[in-house]
Amino acid sequence: MRYSNALTVTHTKLENMSDNIQRQICVTMALPYANGDLHLGHLVEAIQSDIWVRFQRHRGNNCSFFCGSDAHGTPIMLQAQKKGITPEALVAQAHEQRVRIYSAFNVDFTNYHTTHSSENRTLAEDIYTKLKSNGDISRKSVEQFYDTEKQMFLPDRFVKGTCPKCGAQDQYGDNCEVCGASYHPTDLKDVKSSVSGTTPVLKSSDHLFFEIARYQTDLQNWLETSQCQTATINKLNEWLSQPLHPWDISRDGPYFGFEIPEEENKFFYVWLDAPIGYMASMVNWANAHDHNDYFKAVWNHDSDVELYHFIGKDIVYFHTLFWPAMLKGADYRLPTAVWAHGFLTINGHKMSKSRGTFITADAYLHHVKDPDYLRHYFASKLTDTVDDIDLDIEDFKAKVNSDLVGKLVNIASRCAGFLKKQFDNRLLDPSEETLYQQFINARETIASDFESRNFAKAIREIMALADDANRFIDANKPWLALKDPEQHEEVHRVCSLGLQLFRILMTYLKPVVPGLTEKAEALFGETFTWAQLEEGLRSTTINSFKPLLPRIESAQLESMMDEVKLESQDNKSDDTPKTGHLADEPIAETIDYDTFLKVDLRVAKIVEASAVEGADKLLCLKLDIGGEIRQVFAGIKSAYKPETLVGKHTVMVANLAPRKMRFGMSEGMVLAAAGTDKNGLYILEPHEGAEPGMRVR
Ligand code: MSP
Ligand code: ZN
Repeated sequence: MRYSNALTVTHTKLENMSDNIQRQICVTMALPYANGDLHLGHLVEAIQSDIWVRFQRHRGNNCSFFCGSDAHGTPIMLQAQKKGITPEALVAQAHEQRVRIYSAFNVDFTNYHTTHSSENRTLAEDIYTKLKSNGDISRKSVEQFYDTEKQMFLPDRFVKGTCPKCGAQDQYGDNCEVCGASYHPTDLKDVKSSVSGTTPVLKSSDHLFFEIARYQTDLQNWLETSQCQTATINKLNEWLSQPLHPWDISRDGPYFGFEIPEEENKFFYVWLDAPIGYMASMVNWANAHDHNDYFKAVWNHDSDVELYHFIGKDIVYFHTLFWPAMLKGADYRLPTAVWAHGFLTINGHKMSKSRGTFITADAYLHHVKDPDYLRHYFASKLTDTVDDIDLDIEDFKAKVNSDLVGKLVNIASRCAGFLKKQFDNRLLDPSEETLYQQFINARETIASDFESRNFAKAIREIMALADDANRFIDANKPWLALKDPEQHEEVHRVCSLGLQLFRILMTYLKPVVPGLTEKAEALFGETFTWAQLEEGLRSTTINSFKPLLPRIESAQLESMMDEVKLESQDNKSDDTPKTGHLADEPIAETIDYDTFLKVDLRVAKIVEASAVEGADKLLCLKLDIGGEIRQVFAGIKSAYKPETLVGKHTVMVANLAPRKMRFGMSEGMVLAAAGTDKNGLYILEPHEGAEPGMRVR
């Protein structure tokens, strides 16, 4: 059967198909803080929302997608001071980095803006003024720790002291990381400001409060109509069963934020203007593109735009209580739903710098590169619940290599070769094929899984179809059949159908793996659309096949994890208990003497030491181990100036397998005692007389 352009579409169109009516949708994603690096946890959210947005657009809906940086607050102010730049400069740097990273991961924002913008200032002042004129703002004196040297009030996180319950030293002002107790900063003993190290004093000042309890009924009503998740609704019901406490929305200067109108040296608390940043991003885009009615179209009461906020489970409180109440008070519509996702863990552990599980987006891009691997993996784990999701490095490699490369891409690469060699790349009309119909018929189920954010289920279904396609090819063995001229036509049918099935699978996966899809589209010379599943395809030939996706190699993942671990070495203080007790890191499992002897330790003389461009924590060392010079990257920059190390002797592991890092080969490891606080890094040095190359045992 030759392909004809007048394809008869044999499957019945579903009645009442919602995709005939173009929905107007507006999506936002939580605004990441402008300090610190973007990490794979942030990307869970970006990938989840981007897949959903791309799916909506794929279906022909009109879906915009807004985000930006959350620029305000004490941590950003202090970080800028530490770097010796203005907060504005810090925010500008972050902006560039974020735009670069999100685009590298194919996150397709309509606009990425910032909360430190004129649009946001205007909106924040306006909303505050409306709340004030409603009588929703009250004033109360608040007593807080004050750093007399820095002349600033200290947020809880910037006060440290001894836990009142267990006596652990150096604990934050709100809770103890050793015993888990939570308390008020004034309960701490031996209080110190972590900004200046001095002992802070208690001082009172007036704060402004949003009387959110006045909106309790509105929140209750919203809850009943919103499309939030069950877990969120249950939480909200619990919160709403008690009168809500007034919310402290002001901070005294110095503070990086917007000054509150008609007040002296008072600024909006970062969380007041942060969600308003969603609106600011829309206004900024609408102004730049002459969409003058866009803001009203989204935010007016009679709006027919569906509005969804994608966020992480830690910020549900802000998005389902304060934000809707503010919107109500300022006379705007409320969101259609707030959708929360769980937290990312790495190999079953919380992401933590000191444990070496803090994978930055850049580390991924440097070592693994292709975003589609991660997008596919996250999609295969994401559901509509707030359950945490784990990135298990081994599982990641196995799943990507078996699903994307082994199953999916394999269908195309198996069939395309025969089609080219024997059949001039010509495709046959597949519409009468049962298997083809089976693939097409899966579309509504898969669509409803994407729609309800059950990406994991969609991926399972798509991969089950990929299995069917591979089984079909295996059963027909084109590589054998080709030897028999009688079966020539049959081979054409099998290979052509294989490619048609591949095309359908790629159409389903398009929102998940846009990079791979683009390559597949180039193969067919057309853009895959959801509507095409109904209409049938137009292309009658394929272009010549180019490899679509390589496997992930273990070496890529190993070098990524090595970098993460090395760069973590001077970050020990970020999230581990800050004591030097043996109990914090128990003695490892017993090994026998022979196992110990496998480690070849040598005295090494440091003959060169230099900083590594592009790495915050690493020094590059050249080590003389008695006739041989080794290059080793060590995460000790925080503790040593390179020039002070030259000429010193130390001890290195000389038989560790060399590791390829972004900066070059690392041929071994130097030994250092690593404490759990910032300055706790001490390289080992043998007594005088030891010479390079001597074995240490
Ligand atoms: N700036 C606020 C959000 C303001 S929205 C008006 C903020 N920023 S954040 O940078 O800390 O987090 C940004 C988003 O990333 C949040 O939704 C947060 O839940 C999410 N994640 C941060 N770490 C995460 C994981 N480890 N895993 C998954 N998501 C995580 O909160
Ligand atoms: Zn404690």
